[in-house]
Amino acid sequence: MCGIVAYVGGREAFPLILKGLKRLEYRGYDSSGVALIEDEKLKVYKKKGKVSDLEAELAGKAPKGTIGIGHTRWATHGEPNDVNAHPHYSNNRKLSIIHNGIIENYAAIKQNLVGKGHVFLSDTDTEVLIHFIEDIQQATGGPLESAVKLALKEVVGAYAIVVMSEELPNQLIAARKGSPLVIGVGESEFFFASDATPIIEYTKDVVYLDDYEVAVVKDGKLSIQNLDNTETIPYIQTLEMELEAIEKGGYDHFMIKEIFEQSKSIGDSMRGRLNAEAGHLQLGGLNQYLDRLVAAERIVIVGCGTSWHAGLVAEYLFEELARINVEVEYASEFRYRNPVIGKNDIVIAISQSGETADTLAAIELAKSKGATIFGVCNVVGSSIARATDAGAYTHAGPEIGVASTKAFTAQVTVLTLIAIATAKRKGTISEETYIQLLNELENIPEKVEQVFENAQKIKEIAFIFTYARNFIYLGRGLNFPVALEGALKLKEISYIHAEGYPAAEMKHGPIALIDEDMPVVFLATKDSSYEKIVSNIQEVKARKGRVIAIVTEGDSLIPPMVDFVIEVPKTHEILTPLVSVIPLQLLSYYIAVMRGRNVDQPRNLAKSVTVE
Ligand code: F6R
Repeated sequence: MCGIVAYVGGREAFPLILKGLKRLEYRGYDSSGVALIEDEKLKVYKKKGKVSDLEAELAGKAPKGTIGIGHTRWATHGEPNDVNAHPHYSNNRKLSIIHNGIIENYAAIKQNLVGKGHVFLSDTDTEVLIHFIEDIQQATGGPLESAVKLALKEVVGAYAIVVMSEELPNQLIAARKGSPLVIGVGESEFFFASDATPIIEYTKDVVYLDDYEVAVVKDGKLSIQNLDNTETIPYIQTLEMELEAIEKGGYDHFMIKEIFEQSKSIGDSMRGRLNAEAGHLQLGGLNQYLDRLVAAERIVIVGCGTSWHAGLVAEYLFEELARINVEVEYASEFRYRNPVIGKNDIVIAISQSGETADTLAAIELAKSKGATIFGVCNVVGSSIARATDAGAYTHAGPEIGVASTKAFTAQVTVLTLIAIATAKRKGTISEETYIQLLNELENIPEKVEQVFENAQKIKEIAFIFTYARNFIYLGRGLNFPVALEGALKLKEISYIHAEGYPAAEMKHGPIALIDEDMPVVFLATKDSSYEKIVSNIQEVKARKGRVIAIVTEGDSLIPPMVDFVIEVPKTHEILTPLVSVIPLQLLSYYIAVMRGRNVDQPRNLAKSVTVE
């Protein structure tokens, strides 16, 4: 949460930072700000609202300067307003800071500084940090980078920061612990950002800063040290990301672009890993660890939100195919229990962003108890990817819409590959099933394309239900997590209350909600629980509920029973979620658009939840 961008070099910094902030707006969008050194003076411009509000306020008077820092905020300490927006000043207004994270012990530090005469303008923890750095610098008389390191040694919490000083117009100092920070290395210019998207337009050479590292760009040179002044040689990686991947490409929203990208992204997540004709399935990052999976008595899957739903799908897959006992845990609950976990356990952490604070903490906890940790992440080089023993990237490409779509299907695809590879090695599936699954996986991108042909029909159904106040989503087996995911998609972008349930659970409470105003979405594909779900549909219809059924192409039994049907192509039961989730994503998207919601940036949410 919160996005940071900074630049030092030969270009005008303001437009570059503003563009970068727009790319990072998915991380928070309640206020934004930019600080520059203009005519040797530190100037800060900030504004409540979106980056476009700041841009509009400064229209026609773009600040000048070739060094600057910028921030887009998701509020933690202090309400979203102009004053609490970043960047923040030091007491003498010579230093400025942008920060992503939380300084947990800020209150004690602030009290001490107030006693020394510091005057604070905002309610934020970040302002306290820059005053603290200033205080240390004044007390020690040393260089600014030393003051930054000394301050960070005292700080409890998470941070990615960039500090700029009016007195050092060719210098930026950045540091991280627990929040991401990427440095772009150009020709005599440097870029800092929360992720690579603001940078790749200018350079693909990047350095990912590690926890407790401090990067200093001084007079065109980058150096990296830890908090104890030990120098490390910057490891420059070349990114493969293309600019088109982070642009809307003619679509109205990133979310719809990302939904329609899924035939490609599912294919990308299998590329180089699967060849059905040759009977070949291999996940490079996990090869060495496959025997451990085969021997595992238990797998514990941790994640949050949509990633947790992908974990629930994986529970079915590993149990069904590889006969391994699986538990799926909310990372936020797991980390604060005293979970029974040890060196014979495998923990799989699932995360699109690779930065979710709760998932990261769950990993650290499981590690401390000796478990082996695998990661299923989308963002290359992310904190979670680096914290795990091994893993497989999902390769879905950048996901910018706040509501997760293509990342979910890529996670499910990769988890399916892992489950099949484990089952094959373990001998719990026959050769015939193995080949059948590989073949069918290769057909999935085309089947997803076929679901898109129903987009217009789904739009028409969305129109009818635009003003519904509640929705229920029901599914059984592998379609139960899909029901949860459908409900989450709808509530987060349309703000309609929605609940997902295992269809049979309906009788234990939710059925009381059913009346003629209640839309009920049934995941009713032809699988092993088809007859049961047909009975559940009848129970809802008997109470006058309005049923939208997701059915397998050619189904003739369900359509006459229900109000609306959306067909999906037939696939192997194990792979059903990859096709059945698509109509639910489209339904929530169209409803949200018709309700006039900002689907890419729904209220109160941020894409990367780096606070607990
Ligand atoms: C919902 C959504 C969130 C995320 C959750 C975990 O559409 O995007 O529920 O799935 O915040 O995020 P990651 O996967 O980045 O750990």
